[in-house]
Amino acid sequence: MKFPEKVEIIEVCPRDGFQNIKIPIPTEVKISIIDQLVDCGFEWIEATSFVHPKAIPQLADAAEVLQSVKQKHAGKVRFIALAPNLYGAQRAIECGADAITFVVSASERHNMENTRQTIEQSITAFTEVCKIKSNCKVRLAVATAFDCPFAGPVQPEQVMKLVAAGLTAGADEILLADTIGTATPLQMEALLIPLLEKYPQLSFILHIHDTQGMGLANIVTALNLGLTRFETAAFGLGGCPFAPGAAGNIATEDLVNMLHKMNIATGLDYGKILSAARSIEESLQISPLGHMARIAACRA
Ligand code: COA
Ligand code: ZN
Repeated sequence: MKFPEKVEIIEVCPRDGFQNIKIPIPTEVKISIIDQLVDCGFEWIEATSFVHPKAIPQLADAAEVLQSVKQKHAGKVRFIALAPNLYGAQRAIECGADAITFVVSASERHNMENTRQTIEQSITAFTEVCKIKSNCKVRLAVATAFDCPFAGPVQPEQVMKLVAAGLTAGADEILLADTIGTATPLQMEALLIPLLEKYPQLSFILHIHDTQGMGLANIVTALNLGLTRFETAAFGLGGCPFAPGAAGNIATEDLVNMLHKMNIATGLDYGKILSAARSIEESLQISPLGHMARIAACRA
């Protein structure tokens, strides 16, 4: 197998992780967890999501969280915000997001459940977002890129179509998300091989959930195919409230542990990520979800 010397990890716990927690997390707790994550060495952190507060009440404080962490950590780290539509993207830009993750599902049914728009409507909105982006990077996240919780397996051709539409619209980056965490290494190959053949110059970002314990196997498969950018969540939190059965993301500390032991650099401080995971455990009163935080909790 071939592996890169360096990998970039984008931390998404404050968005993907918090969005799936029902008990309200005080804004200052979210900010304090982001402060700790900043200290771990990430270049990019997804801080929140500009969604309808009725859809995800937990993230109703998106503007306050983003503005506060932007002010505190200006110049040190860049912050991403998710948006499901044009209005959300406008709000994120107003609040100073450095990048927007605009989410569109490859599955028509999931796109409707998640954003109440057809794929065509989402792509039209994404095209508008690309026009107003100003200094902000615009990332198209193709959700349910492997499996849909409602419609089953998603064909790679469908994802390729969305990637092409996103690039035509003006996407700076493309993310591929295993939203429900059921993809296998074979599904990774089936999508990534033709994508990388068609777009050898693009640096795709892989966003993986670990519902069935195949997350790290999928990352190893992707690394071997040449991917070097991944989204994970400290403590292994995460999950889409509109995708039944989705469990957390791969825990950032688990991925960093694996990569460092494989002599692949991340630029991150593993000990500080583990400390951030411990703070999440204490402040949210949740048992560790990832392997390394669980081991650390047992030893403590
Ligand atoms: N943030 C806040 N409010 C929003 C909004 C956004 N991004 N988009 C629309 N609204 C408001 C509109 O202003 C309007 O308000 P009004 O009733 O006071 O006029 C109202 O919501 C209805 O607008 P509409 O465009 O019909 O939205 P909708 O009710 O169909 O909801 C979404 C669409 C996408 C905003 C909503 O389904 C959503 O937030 N989904 C969350 C998806 C998500 O985060 N999934 C997990 C991550 S992948
Ligand atoms: Zn996710």
